[in-house]
Amino acid sequence: MAKILIADDDPTILSLLNKILLSKGYEVQLAEHGGVAEKLLKSEQFDLLISDIKMEPVDGMQLLRNTRQMRPSVGVIMLTAYATVSTAVEAMKEGAFDYIPKPFKIDELLETVKRALDYQRSLSEQISGDAHIESKKYFGNIVAESEGMVNVCEMVKRVAPTKTTIMVTGDSGTGKELVAEALHSFSARSEAPFLPVNCAALPETLIESELFGHVKGAFTGATVNKEGLFEAARGGSLFLDEINSIPHQLQSKLLRAIQNKKIRKVGGTEEFEVDVRIIAASNQDLETLVKNGSFREDLFYRLSVITIDIPPLKQRPEDVLPLAQHFISLEMDGSEFPVMDNAVLSILQNYTWPGNVRELQNVIQHCLTFMKDGKITKETLPTKLIVSYEENPGAQSAALTGEFGKGKSLKAFLRAKEKEYLKNVINTMGGDKVKAAQELDISLATLYRKLPEEK
Ligand SMILES: Nc1ncnc2c1ncn2[C@@H]1O[C@H](COP(=O)(O)OP(=O)(O)OP(=O)(O)O)[C@@H](O)[C@H]1O
Ligand SMILES: [Mg+2]
Repeated sequence: MAKILIADDDPTILSLLNKILLSKGYEVQLAEHGGVAEKLLKSEQFDLLISDIKMEPVDGMQLLRNTRQMRPSVGVIMLTAYATVSTAVEAMKEGAFDYIPKPFKIDELLETVKRALDYQRSLSEQISGDAHIESKKYFGNIVAESEGMVNVCEMVKRVAPTKTTIMVTGDSGTGKELVAEALHSFSARSEAPFLPVNCAALPETLIESELFGHVKGAFTGATVNKEGLFEAARGGSLFLDEINSIPHQLQSKLLRAIQNKKIRKVGGTEEFEVDVRIIAASNQDLETLVKNGSFREDLFYRLSVITIDIPPLKQRPEDVLPLAQHFISLEMDGSEFPVMDNAVLSILQNYTWPGNVRELQNVIQHCLTFMKDGKITKETLPTKLIVSYEENPGAQSAALTGEFGKGKSLKAFLRAKEKEYLKNVINTMGGDKVKAAQELDISLATLYRKLPEEK
């Protein structure tokens, strides 16, 4: 059963809450001010903290802030008198789950407690239940839980069997190569080779012979005939990564190879046919390069017949936990799955992932290296994630507040309609959210949770 800590300097409230919560089977601990609560939080594990706002010497807001930093996995509910609703709103911004106005109705209190506990649990459940994630959210090797990534996968499914050249765009580490591989493996070419080539990694002088091959004596050092990557990938797919770094003079030759499916080896006289599908990726905006003249316009149009753009990880927070899960299972090799703290889950979901999925993969590897007794805790995480979390502990994953996922599901539709209605009511109240909440017959806290952008 969940364990709840109550902090209030009013002994009547303490004993009342104690009685109510005990009668529902919760385990309860009492603290007569913030300082006592902090000590208990340090030495024991709790699922939920219910705290009064006005207390001496450590008040509720201070306790809230410290709890969010020290034990981010503990949900916090604030107790407040009607007169201090604005402080309560402030508390929500600091990361409190909700507030309960005093005097409270027992039903309402229990309902809020239950919601808070469910919410905390939902955070941790996303990481357990291995098989469930596996069956639902994979497309090939691609983890796709978010709407953005599901769209990418649908696009892959649709265009993979076609003959067209495909351009994959996205920030570093978003999964461009993985998508290119999927395009290959869902095509009729899947039995033939998939060859990735990083155009930026090849010196300009070598790139032509690498791609098209050379004949013996074509240049100093060309002692034998050499097959190029176009030939090696025959019947399959060639993934031209960082295509933006292809030298200008080679771009027309590449265009010919794509358009006419014909190539000529360096130093060779004959053109010959090769059937290769080109998938390209760029880490720079090719349109800008076309405008400043460093990338041929005709090649650009040829390459980007179809473009698949992968959104950065921060725009698809729903993918974070399934991806973490995926990377853990890749490493576990049948050994026992580690347990991940709720605190770790919150931190992972709040991070902005500038290095995208690759960075998440590195973080998981770090955790698996440094975890103790099969447990991944806050202390196991790289410091940068903790620092970032401490700087912005109140930021909650948009995935869990329903901000994303504007798909076709009825739920998504109803949520969008609800938002529209709530915004209308706020407008008709001249922007006064307290009045709007009264009019709507919901609490201000509920209004803010439904419209987090209005906070
Ligand atoms: N949706 C996903 N599901 C599972 N694994 C993923 C996903 N996206 C990325 N990865 C993994 O993350 C790592 C980085 O992906 P990848 O190399 O495809 O990114 P990239 O966009 O090509 O990066 P860069 O621009 O740096 O070359 C790889 O190990 C890849 O398998
Ligand atoms: Mg890559």
